[in-house]
Amino acid sequence: MIKTISWDRGTVVMIDQKALPHEERYVTCRKYEEVIAAINDMTIRGAPAVGIAAAMGIALGVLNSPEKQMKENFYSICDAFSRTRPTAVNLFWAIDRMKSRFEKEFASTPHIKADTVKKALTEEALYIHEKDIRANRQMGVHGKHLIEDGNTILTHCNAGALATGGYGTALGVIRAAHEEGKKIHVLVDETRPLLQGARLTAWEMKNEGIPATLIIDSMAGSFMKRGMVDLVMVGADRIAANGDVANKIGTYSLAVLARENGIPFYVVAPISTIDHHTRTGNEMPLEERSGEEVLEFHGTQIAPEGFNAHNPSFDVTPKRYITAIITEKGIITAPFGKGIKDLA
Ligand code: MRU
Repeated sequence: MIKTISWDRGTVVMIDQKALPHEERYVTCRKYEEVIAAINDMTIRGAPAVGIAAAMGIALGVLNSPEKQMKENFYSICDAFSRTRPTAVNLFWAIDRMKSRFEKEFASTPHIKADTVKKALTEEALYIHEKDIRANRQMGVHGKHLIEDGNTILTHCNAGALATGGYGTALGVIRAAHEEGKKIHVLVDETRPLLQGARLTAWEMKNEGIPATLIIDSMAGSFMKRGMVDLVMVGADRIAANGDVANKIGTYSLAVLARENGIPFYVVAPISTIDHHTRTGNEMPLEERSGEEVLEFHGTQIAPEGFNAHNPSFDVTPKRYITAIITEKGIITAPFGKGIKDLA
């Protein structure tokens, strides 16, 4: 399995997703600031993977912190991570877990040793990582039944092993169907502007021998209309309490096109992606990234010098377009608000 991120004797090691698919190289972070930089520049990306990176980064920051400033440093490190990427709620979920563990350790004994706290935070980060891999596999177990032998599945962005602790959400379900021997084909949206589909999903599919074809984002509608897509399967960055879903820009268009063409539209995400405090998609913070990413194509300027570009990184798909949400605890269908509440 691809090692997206790991903890190695007081360092955080991650595969450099900016270099893929041409080069498989690993980045070693020795300071928490390097983990923050890796999240910001997309060395590591994908909602669950960002959450795991933050948890490991917090553990790393505390590990390197002088004993007297540990408490103060802990909260400022958590704040620094919370300013990295605003949409993926797994980030905030992981930070909250680290805070709860930190506070629990101090509550257990007021004279607790710094080493005990450091060990506890490292344990918590590793637990968050393991829990995510287990959840991914469970989503595969639940979701693979939705894929039939001979199906063509359209996916967007990268919701695979690279976007998670390992295995993947949407790609995890696709992997599970493939591992079961189902003959499937994956249509991979290239996913402008950063090409997570063309670079990362295509790389994962090739590595595993899952039959797949790359298409540009604007081909999806025509392929659906021509009967070349049986179902759409995507990941999520945040799911509101009512079932609205934020995911990579372009997901909303796919959902509307799927509905128009009578094609099921599935969202696959761990329960750490559900944000019970956000009532609907209208309240979700959507990350706005630099226009340069749109003005360039893989680092090469394509628009006239000085031209403007708009670059919202995510969009919201209203729940009415979603056929089902696949989680590690089971599959939720409409009414989504009730399903999400029952799951919690
Ligand atoms: O900007 P990115 O590459 O972090 O966006 C990732 C996505 O939109 C994924 O689809 C989402 O995080 C789900 S990953 C399991």
